[in-house]
Amino acid sequence: MNPMEDKLRWLEKAGDADQEAPQELHGLLAEFETPEALLEACTKVRDAGYKKWDALTPFPVHGIDEAMGIRMTILPWLSLGAGLTGLMIAFALQIFTNGIDYKFLISGKPFISVPANIPVAFELTVLLAAFTTFFGMMILNFLPELFHPLFRAKRFPRMTADRFGIYIESKDPLFNRQQAELMFSRLGASALEPVLSPTKRAPLPGVIHGVGLTLTLVALIPVALAVKSRFSKSDQPRIHIIQDMDFQEKYKTQTAHPLLYQGAASMQPVAGTIRRGDLREDGHLYRGMAGDEFARGFPMALTQEMLVRGKQRFSIYCAVCHGATGYGDGLVAQRAEALAEGTWVPPLSLHEAVVLDQAEGQIFNTITHGIRTMKPYGSQIDVQDRWAIVAYVRALQRSQRATLTDVPPDVRAQLSQ
Ligand code: HEC
Repeated sequence: MNPMEDKLRWLEKAGDADQEAPQELHGLLAEFETPEALLEACTKVRDAGYKKWDALTPFPVHGIDEAMGIRMTILPWLSLGAGLTGLMIAFALQIFTNGIDYKFLISGKPFISVPANIPVAFELTVLLAAFTTFFGMMILNFLPELFHPLFRAKRFPRMTADRFGIYIESKDPLFNRQQAELMFSRLGASALEPVLSPTKRAPLPGVIHGVGLTLTLVALIPVALAVKSRFSKSDQPRIHIIQDMDFQEKYKTQTAHPLLYQGAASMQPVAGTIRRGDLREDGHLYRGMAGDEFARGFPMALTQEMLVRGKQRFSIYCAVCHGATGYGDGLVAQRAEALAEGTWVPPLSLHEAVVLDQAEGQIFNTITHGIRTMKPYGSQIDVQDRWAIVAYVRALQRSQRATLTDVPPDVRAQLSQ
């Protein structure tokens, strides 16, 4: 079926609904056949002094603004005003906050610095100008306008195809139906149609209700799915739309492999071989052991540098719990005690008899593998540093129970003088 006919039929039905009640005239529509006739008529309507009227054309007609007497709108001035307001707000805000209220030196720039303020000023200028232009345009044009009585005029649809029109609203102070009709027929209008104000809304075609309802329901599906997955559990992997290289054809460790001779994806080292640099024969150095016992003493000569290094590593790794002096009063321990939560075990004081009596190798072993609730540090602290820490722990212990004989003889000699 021809869509235009369809539309006309609907309009007629709508018109029938209107006929039940007496209606007011909304305006007068005049139809013209050519753009030239329209332009000519527009000039006359303009000169006659009408204000509430409009021209209807299916395509832009050159010169129509002038023929209709359309002047520039005030919108550009509104945009300019809004832009300048944004500019001033931005500068005022930045100068006040950074230059007056709370002076804060940034990279040695002056407190009031125009170049530094430009990005914000630019953004705010554009923001206010754009919003004012957009909403100003809508407001000045009374948009959005979802319905206009003209939509029901029988001749209106052709003015979107191959006819031209002029519509004068009855609200215009000059409006007089007889005079207007006379004027239009003199100007060569091919048809005239009075347009009535709607008193009663034409019923919407049922299909629109159907489509609206369907779209609303469909739009709820993603929300429903999101809510469902939020409150339910699934043993399926989650939907992974962009896979990148997350999933590849590959053999993972500890899985079977059909090609390799051992039948496993991870190959075993050849029996009796050791990776270069992995030979750790020295039990004292690497494990703190002498045979089956913890080794006493150090596997290397003690030096001043080693103690300095040990002190530094101790403050990094151990002091948080054991405290700078080793009494078990580090910040973590203090905080945990203050919170008194869960099953916190206080770090041992390194001046307890158990630790004092331990072999150096055992302290080394505690650092490497941890002990009971203390975690291992072997993967973070290398062997040399672990021994340096042990040396420093010894120094700490000795510092708390020093006797006169610990004072070096020359210092002692000075003191006794
Ligand atoms: C996160 C806190 C924490 C850190 C860090 C920490 N420790 Fe401990 N340490 C503990 C706790 C807790 C215990 C007591 C463990 C227990 O009794 O369950 C402990 C016990 C010890 C003991 C006594 C072991 C024994 O035989 O009873 C030594 C020695 C020790 N730590 C040394 C160190 C050294 C050296 C470092 C630095 C490398 C260190 N700790 C870092 C919490 C810590």
